[in-house]
Amino acid sequence: MSRISLTRIYSFSAAHRLNSTILSDEENKQIFDKCNNYYGHGHDYSVEVTLRGKPNPATGMIIPLPEFDTVVTEFLATLEHKHLDMEVPYFKDKISTGENIVQYLWNELEQRLPSGKLFHIRLWETNNNYFDIGKDA
Ligand code: NI
Repeated sequence: MSRISLTRIYSFSAAHRLNSTILSDEENKQIFDKCNNYYGHGHDYSVEVTLRGKPNPATGMIIPLPEFDTVVTEFLATLEHKHLDMEVPYFKDKISTGENIVQYLWNELEQRLPSGKLFHIRLWETNNNYFDIGKDA
């Protein structure tokens, strides 16, 4: 069973506001603190995308890097400099927490990357916190 993986690091910048419609204004403020700021705020997100699989005997690689980069950067361009809550339909009814963003990245990239190869995604929201999703995470 092959256990070789490849990880590439990408980035995008976006704005959001953490606010739950089922909580009171006071509760939102208490739970989300500065991230509840009415006019939103931004992050420079980093995304570590890991594929796992057997290297192709012809190339010695799990995936050609240009193909990997094209798939991921074309998708991330749909988030670049957007206000996630207002411009990305997925977040119309989901709070744009790191937990929900990393789930969204997984759903979208899994459809776009070669079947069965996506293994793990780590989303850095700040230097102090990251969110993981994956087949063993
Ligand atoms: Ni934030």
